[in-house]
Parts: sequence; C-alpha cells; structure tokens
Amino acid sequence: MKLNVVILAAGQGKRMHSNLPKVLHPIAGKALVQHVIDTARALSPVRLCVVYGHGGDAVRAALPADDLAWALQEPQLGTGHAVQQALPHLAGDGVTLVLYGDVPLTRAETLKRLLDAAQDGLAVLTVELANPTGYGRIVRNAAGHVVRIVEQKDASAAEKTIREVNTGIMAIPTARLAGWLAGLSNNNAQGEYYLTDVIAAAVAEGVPVSAVQPEGKDSEWEVLGVNSKVQLAELERVQQRRIADTLLESGVRLADPARIDVRGQLTCGRDVAIDVNCVFEGLVELADAVDIGPNCVLKNAKVGPGTRIAAFSHLEDSLVGPDCIIGPYARLRPGAELGPEVHIGNFVEIKNSKIAAQSKANHLAYIGDARIGERVNVGAGTITCNYDGANKHLTVIEDDAFIGSDTQLVAPVTVGRGATLGAGTTLTKDAPPNALTVSRAKQISLAGWQRPVKQPKK
Ligand code: UD1
Ligand code: MG
Repeated sequence: MKLNVVILAAGQGKRMHSNLPKVLHPIAGKALVQHVIDTARALSPVRLCVVYGHGGDAVRAALPADDLAWALQEPQLGTGHAVQQALPHLAGDGVTLVLYGDVPLTRAETLKRLLDAAQDGLAVLTVELANPTGYGRIVRNAAGHVVRIVEQKDASAAEKTIREVNTGIMAIPTARLAGWLAGLSNNNAQGEYYLTDVIAAAVAEGVPVSAVQPEGKDSEWEVLGVNSKVQLAELERVQQRRIADTLLESGVRLADPARIDVRGQLTCGRDVAIDVNCVFEGLVELADAVDIGPNCVLKNAKVGPGTRIAAFSHLEDSLVGPDCIIGPYARLRPGAELGPEVHIGNFVEIKNSKIAAQSKANHLAYIGDARIGERVNVGAGTITCNYDGANKHLTVIEDDAFIGSDTQLVAPVTVGRGATLGAGTTLTKDAPPNALTVSRAKQISLAGWQRPVKQPKK
C-alpha cells in the first residue's frame, strides 16, 4: 500500500510564550516535529510532507532533509485547509496519514494498526479521556459505528458528555481525499475548514470508517500534544521514563530511573551502572562494565570497558579508553582522547589532547593541544601554555616523563622520554630525555633575618 504522510505544523503555538516555533521545542533533545518525522519514516512513506505556516522558515531551516516536501499554509484556515495545501505533493493512490507536528510520542506500531484499519476505508485514532474538554468528540450511531466528529465549540450539551475524542491522527484513502477536502465548508463555530468533517463525508458515501485506540493502559501519552511549557515538561518526563525503562530492560543498572536524562542516543554494554542525575547528550557509547557516578554530563563521548567516571565529571566530544579512572570533577573537552588505564583527577581540564596508556594527571591541571605518551605523571598544577593570544601550539610529552607540580609548559615544547621536570619549572625550551630539567630561582636562607613584629597599641 502506497503511503503519504502529511504532518501539520502550521499552527503558531502562542501558549508556548516563545520566539522558537512550537514544533522546534525539544523533547529528549530532539525537536517535537523531528520525533514525528522519525516515526513517519519508520512507516516507509512514498511522500512525506510538512505543512508549515507563516514565520515557519525557521522550521524548514531546522529540518534539512531530502525526503521532506514542504507546503506553505498561509493564512491558516483550519486542519482541512492545511491538508489541502499538501495535496500537490502527494502520490495519488494508497493512503494518506495525517499527523500533528506537536504530538511527538505516537508509536509507529500504533500507526501501523491505524493503517491496517484503513485498508478498506478511513481510520481515525481515538482515545477515551476522563476530561475530554477541548477535543473533537467521536459521535457514533446506535449500532456503534462512527458517523462524524463534532468539535468542542460546535457540540451540543449531550455531545459534550462523549468521552471518546479525536486525536487528530487519521488515515484517509488518498483517491477520495481531494474530493472530500474540496467539499468542506467553514460554516462552523470557528469559521475553519475542519479536517474532521471528512468523516461525515466518508459515511455519506458509504466508505467504512473505523476507530483505533493506542494499546495498553496509560498509553494516553501517545496522543498527547504540546501546547504549553507545562505539557512539554510532562511529555519530557514520559519520554525519559520510556528511555530509562528501555535501558533497565537491556540490563543497565540505574540508581533511579526517574533521575536520568538522555537527550540523544545512549548505547550501553553489559553491566553498565549509572548513578543519579546524569545527563547524556548526542551520541554516547558506554562499553561493558562502565560505571558513571552521580551528576555527570556526557555529550558525544565514547567510554571504554571497565572505566569509572566519578561524580560531577563533564565529558564532551571525547574518547576514553578502557579501565580509566576519571574524576570526580574532571572535565574532558572536545578532542580529549585517553588510552587505557589513564587517570584524570579532580579539577583537571583536557582539551584536544591525546594521553596514552597508564598516564596520570590527578589534580588541578590544564592540558590543551598536547600529545602525552605512556606512563607519564603530570603533577598537580601543571599547565600547558598552549595559546599565545593568536595561535595554539603543541606540547609533546614522551613516554615515562615526570612533570613536577606547578610546572608551565610554554608551547611549542617537547619533554623527552624519561625526562623529569622539577616542581615549579617554566619550560620554554625542550627538555632532553632522561635528564632533570629545572628552572627555578636559587633558594637562599637569610640567617639573621627578623620577622616584623606588630607594636602593641598604646
Ligand atoms: C484538532 C481537531 C480535534 C482534535 C484535536 C486533537 C480539527 C478541526 N479538530 O483540534 O478534533 O480533538 O485537534 O488535538 O481538526 N494546524 C495547521 N493549520 C491550521 C490549523 C491547525 O497546520 O490551519 C495544525 C496545528 O499546528 C496543530 C494541528 O494542526 O499541529 C491541530 O491544530 P489545533 O488548532 O490544535 O486543532 P484543535 O482545535 O486542537
Ligand atoms: Mg490542539
């Protein structure tokens, strides 16, 4: 069956109180409409069309993709009118599925069931709500067949008591769609062309109409839309809980599934443990037996097996090898690449640097634009002076070097294999291998020196 998908995203979203178009607000780090597009793609449509509105250029710009067709709806005269704008982009037969750009969490399985139900007619996704206020109501006849949808503002007192509502998601035979849309009138309480009126049109023509519901209890979130920051926050929690449950089911140990935020793709090996309040952004890969302490942030990071990342560490665009110990309070900035068994301790910042196996920087250091060999010990307070105000320069520290505390390495500079730098050295020239290099004022002691003494107040 040929499938068209039309995503309605022309509405303004005034209640978001934001300059960002509503459908670009994120859930789990991804724009609302991107969730809908991704779900639509899982259904392999032949055409995927987004209806966008005035001021929606930001929406187009935010969603560059070859497989999207764009239909401008200006002015916005209702959901039926919106679908009409998409017609020129649609393949002429099969089924057209209408989704909303602000209803992000519908599962592809649910939509597949809706499409199955639309094999020989029109199918609408409905749900029973304890409080149906505001939604279009599903009106059924005595035999229980759906006969039309009535909007809240047009509904009689009796119709308002109906608890089965229109989610807005519909699958419509494409061959009939243009005719039904052309027949819509805006003679209603809102003066809009309602897509919902195609139901009555289908019934009038004897086309079967069926209603499908999301499966399982508490599945209401599948059809909830976002109109406000309150609803955005609610659906964020729903989505985070779903992600946490998936992680738990795959064997990840979460100290508290309610206190983890994944804003991207988190992939975990076996026996991974994640403590509370960690945030994962972009693509993060944790290999087997990785242990993440509380309050860590990892963005686009790959962590090797057996590595422990202690509390309050922040990693971005970094690669960490196996069996490393990172943190607490470590910061790995873009381009940090650590080999096996590297130790990075508190208040150590690493940027664009490679650190080879078994090297350690355990306290208070800045390592930027450096290549550090194996088994190097970087003392507390070591700084690579990599930036001269205009250019960045490289620091090379070869295998088995020992960098004394409070050393400044003024790049470009190389510390030879096995070299030792005395504490407090300001290294401006290369340090030869296997030697002690120290730059330090000579220490003197004045034997007869007297410490000043405070005079007692008179
Ligand atoms: C619509 C349905 C209602 C359903 C409810 C579910 C109609 C007439 N009513 O009502 O039965 O219960 O959704 O949430 O369809 N949009 C456009 N262009 C327009 C108007 C809307 O693109 O001219 C888009 C909006 O951006 C939004 C969606 O369509 O994504 C729904 O629009 P909205 O104004 O929220 O419709 P409701 O009145 O809530
Ligand atoms: Mg709405």
